Amino acid sequence: MQKVTINDIIPGAVVAKPIYNERGILLVPTGIILDEKGINKLAELDIREAFILYPEQDTSKILKQYAKSPHVDEIIYHRTRVKAQKLTKKVMQTIGQKGVNIDKISDIIDEILSQLLSSDNIILTLSRIRTIDDYTYEHSVNVCVVSLVIGIDLNLPPEDLKQLGTGALLHDVGKISISEDVLNKPSSLTENEFNEVKAHTVIGYQMLLDAGISQEAAMIALCHHERYDGSGYNRNLAGEEIPLLSRIVTLADSYDAMSNDRVYKKKLSPDVVYKEIARLSGRHFDYTISERFLRRIDLYPVGTGVVLNTNHKGVVVFANKLLPQSPVIRVFRDGTNPKNAGKSINYVDIDLSKTKYLFIKGTF
Ligand SMILES: [Fe+2]
Repeated sequence: MQKVTINDIIPGAVVAKPIYNERGILLVPTGIILDEKGINKLAELDIREAFILYPEQDTSKILKQYAKSPHVDEIIYHRTRVKAQKLTKKVMQTIGQKGVNIDKISDIIDEILSQLLSSDNIILTLSRIRTIDDYTYEHSVNVCVVSLVIGIDLNLPPEDLKQLGTGALLHDVGKISISEDVLNKPSSLTENEFNEVKAHTVIGYQMLLDAGISQEAAMIALCHHERYDGSGYNRNLAGEEIPLLSRIVTLADSYDAMSNDRVYKKKLSPDVVYKEIARLSGRHFDYTISERFLRRIDLYPVGTGVVLNTNHKGVVVFANKLLPQSPVIRVFRDGTNPKNAGKSINYVDIDLSKTKYLFIKGTF
């Protein structure tokens, strides 16, 4: 699978991820083969990019696998995501002045929850790159979805899930108190600037309480930067002193931040995110929560470019649920090597779980 600009699509390409217009209306579902007319139509509709596959890459298998492994931004309906994002934006823009519509927040959490509860065995892969402008709103919705996936996995009762979803969606509401310059500063912050950033937790907490949000949900805004080992802010709480719902959101927040480009740092590849969460388990994150969470991360999602210990490069074509570090990869033959001249098949699929000598040493 590759992400290409519409003008670069060659007729015959298969749509690998649904194409939506700006308003969230589905234009082309997964699996449709695009002809010249279709490509031109998409360009006319101002669609700039699409995820596509070419049939020689054995589309049916890849699509089947891909369907089992949705991105964070696909495990809820696109229209729900758009609605949740718009609502978060509205709440963040108006919370200080005219309060918030609690019923609308409650409805959107119910909508997200019902979609998550109806799909079993959700596996998370990294979400797509986002623009900085939309970052806070998209991030909020992702943190909400990921937190609820963790909450469902932990068998939390429905009322706790509701509070978790509400608090996760609005955890960064206090960020409206941070000046744009500080929020988007690409270099390190001064002490004063860092204090301004830290204050978003306390300010957000108060704003949510003033707006009539429950104490439990508001606590998430207050405690989402506390760390399990006590090294976080604002109150240096540690371990179980930090409310369970906040411990969940801390992990979801870091996971989503690591997986996406920010002004001050590039996103990390899935395997690095995985290792980083494992490394911080018991330090920043509650050990039990992160251990369960790691079981739900697709380490090498289909389409990831990988480098083997032999320096051969390949692309993941099947994820291995039981041995996530050993997927099936497709290695392309070197076309410039005379030994390969005239060969009709120019790639070989290797199941890394069946070989002792090959392993992935990095991604590209
Ligand atoms: Fe935050």
